[in-house]
Amino acid sequence: MPWKRRAFTGGPLEQALNIADLRAMAQRRVPHLAFEYLEGGAEDEATLRRNRSAFDAWGLLPRTLVDTRERHLRGELFGRPTGAPLLIAPTGFNGMLDPDGDVALARAAARFHIPFTLSTYSTTLLEDVVTRAGGRLWMQLYVMKDRAIARHLVRRAAAAGYEALVFTSDANVFGSREWDRRNFRVPGRPTLRAAMDTLRHPRWLAALARSGGLPRLRNLESVLPRTATSALGGSTLIPQLMDASISWDDVAWMRDAWPGKLLVKGILDPSDAERAVAVGCDGIVLSNHGGRQLDSCVAPIEVLPQIAAAVGHRLTLIVDSGFRRGTDIVKGLALGAKAVMIGRATLYGLAAGGEAGVERALAILTAETDKVLGQLGCRSVSELAPPLLQKRAP
Ligand SMILES: Cc1cc2nc3c(=O)[nH]c(=O)nc-3n(C[C@H](O)[C@H](O)[C@H](O)COP(=O)(O)O)c2cc1C
Repeated sequence: MPWKRRAFTGGPLEQALNIADLRAMAQRRVPHLAFEYLEGGAEDEATLRRNRSAFDAWGLLPRTLVDTRERHLRGELFGRPTGAPLLIAPTGFNGMLDPDGDVALARAAARFHIPFTLSTYSTTLLEDVVTRAGGRLWMQLYVMKDRAIARHLVRRAAAAGYEALVFTSDANVFGSREWDRRNFRVPGRPTLRAAMDTLRHPRWLAALARSGGLPRLRNLESVLPRTATSALGGSTLIPQLMDASISWDDVAWMRDAWPGKLLVKGILDPSDAERAVAVGCDGIVLSNHGGRQLDSCVAPIEVLPQIAAAVGHRLTLIVDSGFRRGTDIVKGLALGAKAVMIGRATLYGLAAGGEAGVERALAILTAETDKVLGQLGCRSVSELAPPLLQKRAP
């Protein structure tokens, strides 16, 4: 009988040793329909797998016998100090994982001195995140068919003091997350089986009830009909809102309308990165949306060296998709990213244990990154560079 290893699914968050443990805990705590929403990728999930396997192409090449006692993860992003080279990625419908999900994520980010990015599809008003969580807040923007909605959000985010606007460019034609969709008979209406499964999660149901029922897309309630703003099965409803006509012209009006830092999220091609420089972006996020949009897509980490060579000295490069370990983060930074956006890893923490769970996820990721630095013979992330990596021969 071969020895069977299992991830930790038990109680205390401190016993979660890695992100996989938090994932296993999350899977037990939230109903299947919420977990599948968090977890799923588009179609055959080839992009999702590639986001993970792409890291294996590079091996770390350590320098030995370096005194690394004084190492740290501090740095700066857009001229302001950060506690670690990380950001929390924008994720919609966080209220499905924890009723106060947006605030929990933002507070944990503030405690680690890293920015939190609020999704257009958040279940907390963008103004309330400012007053309740504070910290360094970025606003993610989806541009829908009615441009007035985006302009309205941009004005509100600026008035509320958000530091950066992150325009997501890769969801104009919405990805088909089939595992997620199977939980719904029609958009927004769960199957009987999915509904029964929620009854097996009374703690989750009680938390929703205490917070006043099913979460809603609070930022959009004033501009969309009520049927469009339910967070239940939101990912089956929102495809109808997305707009295939978005283009670089939209970035141009945003640049005029937005006083703070402007980033485009969803860039994978060097010529698009050039275009972002030309229209006056301050940064770009290399992303394939965590494998939730185009299937069979390249992993951002694969195209990062080329994009860093083309535009790395002219704007800030941030990378995401598939980062679950300190070794992944170190590879992203060594290949030219200034910081790494974390999507599912902190959501697993949120679903496993609310704000404390997000803190546990960030503690795991920062501790792992710190250890890798030491093992590589580096004292700070500013020392990370391509010679510390070796690409496996094809
Ligand atoms: C549950 C979930 C919801 C997401 N919602 C959004 C969103 O509203 N806006 C957006 O720009 N990206 C969204 N993303 C993509 C993330 O911002 C990020 O690109 C991705 O999660 C990174 O990959 P990772 O999950 O492997 O870390 C979402 C991702 C997940 C997992």
